[in-house]
Amino acid sequence: MVEIDSLLHSGYHHPAQRPWQAERTLTKSALMYPIFVTHEQDSLTPIPSMPNQCRVGVNRLEEVVGPLVAKGLQSVMLFGVPDDFVKDAFGTAADDPNGPVIQATRLLKSKFPGLLVACDVCLCEYTSHGHCGHLYPDNTIDNEASVRRLAEVAVNYAKAGADCVAPSDMMDGRMRAIKQGLIDAGVSHRVSLMAYSAKFASALYGPFRDAACSGAQFGDRSAYQLPPPSRGLARRAIERDVREGADMIMVKPAGFYMDIIRDAKELAPNHPIAAYQVSGEYATIHHAAAAGVYELKPAVLESMTGLLRAGCNIVITYFTPELLVWLS
Ligand code: PBG
Ligand code: ZN
Repeated sequence: MVEIDSLLHSGYHHPAQRPWQAERTLTKSALMYPIFVTHEQDSLTPIPSMPNQCRVGVNRLEEVVGPLVAKGLQSVMLFGVPDDFVKDAFGTAADDPNGPVIQATRLLKSKFPGLLVACDVCLCEYTSHGHCGHLYPDNTIDNEASVRRLAEVAVNYAKAGADCVAPSDMMDGRMRAIKQGLIDAGVSHRVSLMAYSAKFASALYGPFRDAACSGAQFGDRSAYQLPPPSRGLARRAIERDVREGADMIMVKPAGFYMDIIRDAKELAPNHPIAAYQVSGEYATIHHAAAAGVYELKPAVLESMTGLLRAGCNIVITYFTPELLVWLS
């Protein structure tokens, strides 16, 4: 005999009951689509390491983004891919008014005024050494100088029309500096700050670094991105960024760090939590599906379900174009 207190099946026997078991359900509004904007204004170039993704020139953005907006896309995150020769030790080109990010921001805000445009804020795409900040002569990070420069860049993206700035550099104290910069520039009421709070030094960023040409020329990012085993540092970083004025908290990568997503939801219960399903996760799922491990669609949907169950409200994913179709 099965005892009364053993019975679970009755709660999900009918298919209509199954979604009731979810705390959060995937909607189009949860999706943010990362886009690589190249300085080659007319080009639309497939990225070999990232199936179905392209580097998009400013003059090709409308044809890429327009159909997605028509399907319900609500937000994008922009990454710049500048010309090699503009790179210097300080990342001077990051906020070049004629550079890809500022040009793309202006264009998207004029063509699609309702679309939320977030700009990733970092220096690694623009520095000759490929690190995310400024360096001392001994090649360690000059945190103070880095934070000053990152705040300048974030404010310039905001002035160009960005609705959200998202610093991914992992310097200490940059949220406060950026928030203060937004206040001083008179844009703090209309520009939000998405904190890459728990960003780990992951093996999963490789395809992105190919796409953005942003690999470090020497050393690695382990002295500023978080050590993958560190739950405590992640929790401290989340709490710190809440104190420093972040509007949204992000965990990155997503799938290997679902415990951290749950921690973020618990530590910042009053903030939206974002999970970034990064380039290596995207490529892995694609290649596994191509190798017959599973069907792409159910696997992608399950990966989303897992992230939402862990506690996030926003998913930043390269699968956004497919998901907009599947959710229609
Ligand atoms: C730049 C940045 C990276 C990613 C987002 N912003 C790469 C890195 O830190 O090396 C990774 C995103 C992805 O892999 O999809 N700091
Ligand atoms: Zn960086």
